Amino acid sequence: MAVKLPPILSRLTSYTHAHLRIAFLGQEIQINLMSVFVTLLAVFVVSRVMKLMKGIRDTNYIPGLRVPFQPLAFPGALIPTTWWNPGMYFMWKWRSWMYKRYGENVSIVPFISGVPGIFTSNLDVARQVSAGGHKSAFVKPQTASRALLLWGMNLVAADGEQWRKHRRIMGPAFSNKLYQQVWIETAETYREMISAERWADKKVVDIPVIQTLTFKLALLIIGRCGFGFSFDWSAPPTAPDGSMSVQEALRVVADSYMISTMTPKWVQNLPFKKLQTIKTAHDQLMAFMQEQVIERKADIRSRSSGKTAKTGGASDAFTMLVEANEEESGKFQLDDEELIGNVFIMLFAGHETTAHTLAATLGFLGLYQDIQDEVVQQIIDVVGWDREPTYEDYGKLDKVLAVFYEALRMFPAGYILIREATEDTVITVPNPPGQEGSTTIPIPKGVQVMVDMVGVQYNPRYFDEPEKYKPSRWYGVTNESEAFSAFSIGPRACIGRKFATTEAVCFLTLLLRDWGVKSVLRDGETKEQWRNRVLDANIVLTLGVTDVPATFTRRERPT
Ligand code: HEM
Ligand SMILES: *[C@@H]1O[C@H](CO)[C@@H](O)[C@H](O)[C@H]1NC(C)=O
Ligand SMILES: *[C@@H]1O[C@H](CO)[C@@H](O)[C@H](O)[C@H]1NC(C)=O
Repeated sequence: MAVKLPPILSRLTSYTHAHLRIAFLGQEIQINLMSVFVTLLAVFVVSRVMKLMKGIRDTNYIPGLRVPFQPLAFPGALIPTTWWNPGMYFMWKWRSWMYKRYGENVSIVPFISGVPGIFTSNLDVARQVSAGGHKSAFVKPQTASRALLLWGMNLVAADGEQWRKHRRIMGPAFSNKLYQQVWIETAETYREMISAERWADKKVVDIPVIQTLTFKLALLIIGRCGFGFSFDWSAPPTAPDGSMSVQEALRVVADSYMISTMTPKWVQNLPFKKLQTIKTAHDQLMAFMQEQVIERKADIRSRSSGKTAKTGGASDAFTMLVEANEEESGKFQLDDEELIGNVFIMLFAGHETTAHTLAATLGFLGLYQDIQDEVVQQIIDVVGWDREPTYEDYGKLDKVLAVFYEALRMFPAGYILIREATEDTVITVPNPPGQEGSTTIPIPKGVQVMVDMVGVQYNPRYFDEPEKYKPSRWYGVTNESEAFSAFSIGPRACIGRKFATTEAVCFLTLLLRDWGVKSVLRDGETKEQWRNRVLDANIVLTLGVTDVPATFTRRERPT
């Protein structure tokens, strides 16, 4: 059976003599391998052209990029950002021209693999797709959420009615009581850091990578205030009985998040030491968490039945979550697995994000001494040199808050909001004041709408001179403003925002009062060159800044 080919192709294939003879139903059949290959190739090319055309139609002919692979999925994400492949970094590297060339809504249509999507730097579109609600046609795609379900259903992964249920229980945990605790623990951790790192009698400290400090800080604060565990700066990795300590288990779990979520179960069970350690950490932590849920429930019940004095209990998020859950009834209650899922999601949503942003903040302050001086002046005016700052000072330290918000704008840790249409739908956005009516974009089922946070934070319509580090742009902005879009906007905005800003303001206040932070420039290097070299994005699960080095010099105190 020779495959019939168009004349031009058969001429091509006649140059080869590769044949395969096989017996089929008693007859010998001869297959020309080249013709098979050429046919398959032709079928492939035609199918890819059709995929491309469907993608362009599905994204409503919005201008944009036509690329082989979807940038955030395998294999596109693994290939570096180059002229033909956007890869993981296009949002960062192409931020200065992409939206200028195509407009705020850019279609990215892959022709080899991946779903077509619209990437947007427009907040009105963000508001519509991110809101969630039970009527919304947009959900977080399964593939993105599956990774978050390792420990149980949770607020980040849930959608629709289920999301409402989780938010109802999680909401009350994020209260002033929690932030007060975040402040106290952050101050305590700062003191431990100074003593454990032996900086108490040093005048100058070289910090090769600021992230080593901020990641440890953020992990300890989530551990203490989120999980309610008593961790400390220099705890040994093993417990007194020789087993892995809970603190170490939490560190391992936080560090191996990528491996645990991106690789299949059977790989994780392979007998490699590193994988075994991760598995031990997971099992240990899970068993510990289950114990903790039981203990907390018993504690709350005995308190409410008056067996012990009602002192209000512990103020970590975990305890308050269990408390809020005990007050709910029936179908509004979360089960134990969901409770644990929500405690863990704080680790993943709140640890890297805060740590990265703090590192970026110190990177900018080390470079721009005038901005640092202005912030230190406020710290001295509000707190002075000797008094311990308290949570009550938070509201008056708006310039400290502003340097953090501005670093977050420039390195938005939650760099993308991913949503997918569950049915054919439309995005409807009212026209700007002065123009009648509204603009609509039809979105067919299965198409993804991605809010590109870098695009939003560098959109000149929302932030003038977006490439400039200008904390003063945040002075006097009310905290309900949608300008804080890096935490997302609307009902699904970040629940941990004030947790993060409280930790940041407390830590920066203490650190900057004691130490002058300086970037070390190479000989002849300008600030601009240093910034381009060091303050560059590093994207994994969250977006951060690459390793930032600095020198801390003890401040002269007035005598
Ligand atoms: C600088 C620090 C942080 C940034 C930039 C940030 C950013 C974000 C963003 C953009 C979202 C929306 C995600 C989406 O809709 O797809 C989000 C949601 C969330 N964040 Fe944060 N976050 C930060 C800190 C924290 C902290 C410290 C916690 C917890 C202690 C936390 C817990 C959460 C949770 C639970 C959600 C899901 C809320 C919901 O869907 O209702 N985040 N965050
Ligand atoms: C992007 O789409 C939204 C929604 O249709 C629209 O309001 C906005 O004007 C669009 N942006 C541009 C630059 O076309
Ligand atoms: C915004 O301000 C209100 C009133 O001062 C305060 O209760 C709330 O915690 C603030 N939110 C954030 C995220 O800072």
